[in-house]
Amino acid sequence: MKITIDTSTNSRTIELKKPVCTHQHVRTEATLELVVPMIARRFRAAIIMPNLKPPVTTFTHLEQYKEIIHRANTTGHLFTPMMTLYLTDNLNPGEVDLCGHHAVKYYPRGLTTNSADGVENPQALWSKGSKPHQVLRLLASTGKVLILHAADGFAREGVIVRGTQYHADEELDPYDQEPHFMRETLPRIIDAHPELKIEVAHLSTKEGAEFMQKNGGKRLGCSITCHHLLNDRRDVMRGGFRPHLDWRPVIQPKDNTQALQELCFSGHPFVWLGMDSAPHPRKVKEAACCATGVLTAHAGIELYAEAFETFGALDQRFENFASNNAANFYGLADTDTTITLVNKPWKVRGSYLSGNPDEEIIPYRLGEEVLWRLVE
Ligand code: DOR
Ligand code: ZN
Repeated sequence: MKITIDTSTNSRTIELKKPVCTHQHVRTEATLELVVPMIARRFRAAIIMPNLKPPVTTFTHLEQYKEIIHRANTTGHLFTPMMTLYLTDNLNPGEVDLCGHHAVKYYPRGLTTNSADGVENPQALWSKGSKPHQVLRLLASTGKVLILHAADGFAREGVIVRGTQYHADEELDPYDQEPHFMRETLPRIIDAHPELKIEVAHLSTKEGAEFMQKNGGKRLGCSITCHHLLNDRRDVMRGGFRPHLDWRPVIQPKDNTQALQELCFSGHPFVWLGMDSAPHPRKVKEAACCATGVLTAHAGIELYAEAFETFGALDQRFENFASNNAANFYGLADTDTTITLVNKPWKVRGSYLSGNPDEEIIPYRLGEEVLWRLVE
């Protein structure tokens, strides 16, 4: 990574190896055509989430989806979509086998967008004979990665989480879902599949950060989003509930954001970039039951540069986090391609796809400034 300072204009330019994003929702149709060029400009590769309707559970669907993404990359930039299959209670291990090196994504049923087909009870992940258990064994034996949406919806037995007592089968508070998973579920998955490579996606809590500090390594890594680094719960609730800052996992209180920042800026090789850019039409965000997820891909790498700069970590740690760590974990080839960022603020001016009220998307930070800019 190279930082150049122009003292006459006081502008700084960073040139870094083209990054990798481990978490993108590109959806389909007009949204896909909007988002794919955004990410192809900023990332050399990105992991594409499979929570479509219906979810991506077969080799044929995965290949078709990959082809559509390739066609939507009109930028002229080389871009590799890293495809994923969606783990259901019935996902056929044969399909996983066919899908070569691609990863599998675990969704806890009912806890996020299009998760109705997710695994009903995480116990299936360590119960011999279940389909999910077979899939995890196959992933472990072939060196493929299980990506986890690390949340539990229910306490499996009586338990105290962050001071709250839950009885068996009781629904967990959304703020307690990841802490419960990190304590009660992830250790069981690791015990049952010690060879399995696992990525905890969008780590969001201090309990998650502590677990990673202790256990992160060659087989266990995590991604962190820019919104979990740049926001805490006060931003989501300021003046009223803000649907365009609502994700799952939820943005937590300040001490959690601080724990994530500390983990992220310590320079661990098992921590990397994964945006969880998750566009939804405005009309389903501004609704009685707001869909979770927000578009961030329009400022994908710029927002991370801002976070790293704010915390004095805009140095080699930034390039490792953005471009090297996930590439090493997922076995991607190194690259000579670079991108350039400059510290010239710009304003996120308008919504996207605004010509069609069914499709219009409100981006993260609408009307506000982003401090870094991609030089094209
Ligand atoms: O906020 C979220 N939105 N979290 C997820 O896990 C899924 C995503 C989506 O697909 O919209
Ligand atoms: Zn996601």
